[in-house]
Amino acid sequence: MKIIEPNLDDVTLVQITDTHLFSDSDGELLGVNTLSSFSAVVNDVLESGLEYHSVIMTGDVSQDHTDASYSRFEQGILPLKKNCYWLPGNHDYKPSMRSIYPSTQIQEDTYLQVGKSWQVILLDSQAEGSPHGFLSQQQLEYLDSTLQQYPERFTLVLLHHHPLLVGSQWLDKHCLHNSEVFWQVIEQHQNVKGVLCGHVHQDFHQVHLGVEVFTSPSTCIQFKPNSSDFALDKVSPGWRSLTLKSDGSIATQLHRLTGEQFLPDFDAQGY
Ligand SMILES: [Fe+2]
Repeated sequence: MKIIEPNLDDVTLVQITDTHLFSDSDGELLGVNTLSSFSAVVNDVLESGLEYHSVIMTGDVSQDHTDASYSRFEQGILPLKKNCYWLPGNHDYKPSMRSIYPSTQIQEDTYLQVGKSWQVILLDSQAEGSPHGFLSQQQLEYLDSTLQQYPERFTLVLLHHHPLLVGSQWLDKHCLHNSEVFWQVIEQHQNVKGVLCGHVHQDFHQVHLGVEVFTSPSTCIQFKPNSSDFALDKVSPGWRSLTLKSDGSIATQLHRLTGEQFLPDFDAQGY
């Protein structure tokens, strides 16, 4: 367990997601240099002047499964000067992810007590070898027992895959496949206030069973909302800030880079 700012009423997190980094600094995903766009997002966090307490990374750190790609991430977030907590996405390779430990900034913890009244639970929704997500029985039990153990704490749940359909058929095929049982666990408790994901490379917000569900832009390519087939969006890479407030609400803001320096190859048919 990690305890973060135990004396604070409100705690602010920075979410960075879907960096898709390569070992090679020239590595590109559909024409976007993912290391450059990631670095630009990190600079944007710094230039925003936001006061934040931790960084969270919701998966798809790497595109090429190499130890070196994870080191690139580790090096890349150094300027943020706060601990970073991460979880795997479908593109991640867990043995390489673990290769960076011990790390000065990246932490292994999957349970965080945050401020006076919050907790954050990080889940592993990777279904090895498949783009869709799946929570193992062990992960579901971990979620259930943690919610039961600290019923007085408002809770933010983090996982890579979206547990609600976002309206793009090609992406929704790759959602969290056992989302029904995920919501059944959450419904049995009163303390879950938010669910935050990566994976869909777009901004999405919906309230489901009284829980705020958010997804966020990738630091590289963006997927076009409400598309039946694979489609890229012209909006810029970005990140999200979230303030977990003492009254149980979440104040969140989406941030995008300005300019068009990270436009992808729009002729691409998939990735
Ligand atoms: Fe991704």
